[in-house]
Amino acid sequence: MAYQSWVFRSNQASYDLKLKPVPDIPESRIPPDCVLIRVRAIALNYRDIIAWKNLAGRHVDGRVPASDGAGEIVACGANVRQWKAGDRVAGCFFQTWQTEPFEMRHHKNDLGGTLNGMLQEFICLPETGIVRIPSHLDFEQAATLPCAALTAWYSLVCRGNLQSGQKVLCLGTGGVSIFALQIARAMDCEVIITSSDTDKLQRAKQLGAIHTINYRELPQWSSEVMRHTDERGVDHVVEVGGPGTLEQSMKSVAAGGHIALIGVLTGFGAPATSLFPLLARNIRLNGIYVGPRDQFVQMNAFMEREQLVPVIDRVYEMPEAPDAFEYLSSGKHFGKVVIRI
Ligand SMILES: NC(=O)c1ccc[n+]([C@@H]2O[C@H](COP(=O)([O-])OP(=O)(O)OC[C@H]3O[C@@H](n4cnc5c(N)ncnc54)[C@H](OP(=O)(O)O)[C@@H]3O)[C@@H](O)[C@H]2O)c1
Repeated sequence: MAYQSWVFRSNQASYDLKLKPVPDIPESRIPPDCVLIRVRAIALNYRDIIAWKNLAGRHVDGRVPASDGAGEIVACGANVRQWKAGDRVAGCFFQTWQTEPFEMRHHKNDLGGTLNGMLQEFICLPETGIVRIPSHLDFEQAATLPCAALTAWYSLVCRGNLQSGQKVLCLGTGGVSIFALQIARAMDCEVIITSSDTDKLQRAKQLGAIHTINYRELPQWSSEVMRHTDERGVDHVVEVGGPGTLEQSMKSVAAGGHIALIGVLTGFGAPATSLFPLLARNIRLNGIYVGPRDQFVQMNAFMEREQLVPVIDRVYEMPEAPDAFEYLSSGKHFGKVVIRI
């Protein structure tokens, strides 16, 4: 039986999305240590926009997009013992990164980047490259977890050692930041969040943010963060902006605090600011690249315990994938954008 897959096709400057038929499901040829998954939903990340618009010069011609997806196992390779048909699973962003520490070889094993991603009806993955999804989530909700949620979890809980009662600053209301807000609130932390949009700030308040700041109206937003923290600053910054926001983030963090350096929403260049405040304030600056499989498993247990439900802004159908990319790229979303397969 033939199935369908979206692929990136080079148009010289960037990439178009093309729907491509794949001749048949390789059910009889599943490698011994792999499982065949019927993909039920995928979620987009800003990284998919980076690839699509060729913002980082990455060669993805012919590649299936999307690191994040969830579905059910339909068949298992001969050596697979821990999974069976019908199991509900999500793929891991890095197929080979099982536990800390990180190794550079994992860069060659990222779904939707070097490897074909989840925006297709079926995918074959190693049995060690998937995790069981939380039982309270449907496929669309679970599809949002592999990159955005794990990045927020790994940043705050694992690398940041987040403790109840601490103060967390989230930048913007995209996928990573809203997961960070939800995780921090579930751990009884105070969350301050920024956005360019007043309505989105209202929605963030409904999710438990205690203070909100419009970064478009107040470009020097660190002064407001300091005001809301009695001039002490926050314990953790979820830094998704990069060079254009790092200065304000450094001015927002408390002495001895932590910045999780995650994103590049303001580009890949160098920050036009001195890094001296990091030293002067004894700040930890952690470079983050998603997270390992064992943290994904721990995060899912936490989400199940806390009954955390991902915030999905909009769900598209598979033929509408280019519209979903356009929508995420517009920045109008709050939380996650999903494509049902
Ligand atoms: N290192 C990693 O492991 C890792 C993992 C995941 C993501 N990332 C990176 O993290 C960033 C966020 O990813 P995402 O998938 O969560 O993106 P996303 O869902 O597309 O979120 C984009 C949102 O970020 C906000 N934003 C844009 N420019 C901003 C600025 N200058 N200051 C503050 N907020 C700004 C906007 O929110 P408002 O509309 O509310 O203003 C925008 O809607 C991206 O750069 C992505 O590449 C890195």
